[in-house]
Amino acid sequence: MEIKRSSKARTKTIVQFITSGEIGLPPGVSSEKGATSIRAQDSTTIIYAGIGEKRECTTSVLRTVAAKAAQRVIELKQSSVSCLIPASLCKSSADECALIDGFMLGSYRFTKYRSDPPPALTVLELVGSSCKPAVVQRQMAICNAVNYSRSLVNENASVMTPAKLVEEARILAKMEHISITVLDEKALIAKKLNLITAVGGGSATPPALIILEYRGNRSSSTKTAIVGKGITFDSGGQNLKPTGSIETMRCDMAGAAAVLGVFTACAQTRPPINLIGVIPAAHNALGSKAYFPGDIYTSYSGKTVEIWNTDAEGRLVLADAIAYCRDHYKPDCIIDLATLTGGILTALGELVAGLFSTSDALAAALFAAGEKSGERLWRFPLYTEYCDSLKGDLGDVRNTSKFKKGYASSITGAAFIREFVGNTPWAHLDIAGTAFNEGAQRGEIPQYGTGFGVRLLLTYLGVL
Ligand code: BES
Ligand code: ZN
Ligand code: ZN
Repeated sequence: MEIKRSSKARTKTIVQFITSGEIGLPPGVSSEKGATSIRAQDSTTIIYAGIGEKRECTTSVLRTVAAKAAQRVIELKQSSVSCLIPASLCKSSADECALIDGFMLGSYRFTKYRSDPPPALTVLELVGSSCKPAVVQRQMAICNAVNYSRSLVNENASVMTPAKLVEEARILAKMEHISITVLDEKALIAKKLNLITAVGGGSATPPALIILEYRGNRSSSTKTAIVGKGITFDSGGQNLKPTGSIETMRCDMAGAAAVLGVFTACAQTRPPINLIGVIPAAHNALGSKAYFPGDIYTSYSGKTVEIWNTDAEGRLVLADAIAYCRDHYKPDCIIDLATLTGGILTALGELVAGLFSTSDALAAALFAAGEKSGERLWRFPLYTEYCDSLKGDLGDVRNTSKFKKGYASSITGAAFIREFVGNTPWAHLDIAGTAFNEGAQRGEIPQYGTGFGVRLLLTYLGVL
């Protein structure tokens, strides 16, 4: 999308935001939150976008309403739109940025496999913008990064293989300040990342561990690690997923997609921070080389792990990736993003992601970033009883708890990862509910891959 700025509307389609009680509106036009009304005026079409009560207008409301307006523009088969910036609602540049978000994120479509792709919204004209051009540029870069992350998730699992994730990461590593290390299957075996090779071993497309480094602040040694689950397809393995659960499992690399999205945004906006991006990439396949329930593996950390369920594979690849990252990069804190459990959908639905942490300060900062970005989090406990439920018999830890099936599965999944984080402050975000929208579009959140986590992490990191 191209963003232009002007002092008066020059396109045929104009979006005007309206609030409750506003006077002088055409009859029948609704200012209710999220309502849109289309009226022809001379040779132009005006889309009135309802904000609702002015005092309840937040950046989230602006983002969602702008997204709804963007969808109306697409329905009208228009590729350009003028957005009248409502000065009385846009108190800060963050408000105007939320409008840009709405148009850019709300008009996203994954059209690669459509023979009749709907026309894309390609030009956004900001009328009366008071945002600095550099701020608009930054916001565009961030929205493009979110949309990129969405497309990675939406792509066929047969295309988005571990090798393809490596390829995407290598493209990023061509940018300034970014470098890459890739451990291929041979290196993973040699370095004893046995949990990753176990999970990825059943597939014709071998696993890999991708490590990206972004050094935007050479005068500081502080660095944050973000680790994204990169299961390019989760069949469940020997514990095969049934029909009804398996169809959407290309989404299981959404954590990896978020990490790649954050790095894309950093490559474009060059913030003064240091980041490590870690992606354990593997296809959890069912085949003659697939790993077995009942087997015990020695993890990279040295702890032995009893495999009770090959469908609890995300925590296995994360355990090795986190232990390796701590060993070789010594980050100041670790945040992992993973489509880890179906249980988080039961607990929070598709609207909020689960937050688990060993650090109250880190948890509080992430929660605040969630509230600010609209990519919300809710914290769960990690009491010792949950950790105890993972005690092994023949090995050190089990990969699923001894609790009754389905009991506290999101918490015990997090508790398993905790076994491998040591003393490094750590947070785990279970994005199984928020990363993939099986329902209809909700404002700026499209169907299927949502790009969840990119704006959240960028907000946490102070980039947004
Ligand atoms: N990838 C799934 C979790 C998932 C479920 C993601 C729904 C997106 C939507 C994960 O690997 C998994 O299978 N988890 C199991 C763990 C169980 C075997 C302990 C689950 O949640 O059922
Ligand atoms: Zn699984
Ligand atoms: Zn999985």
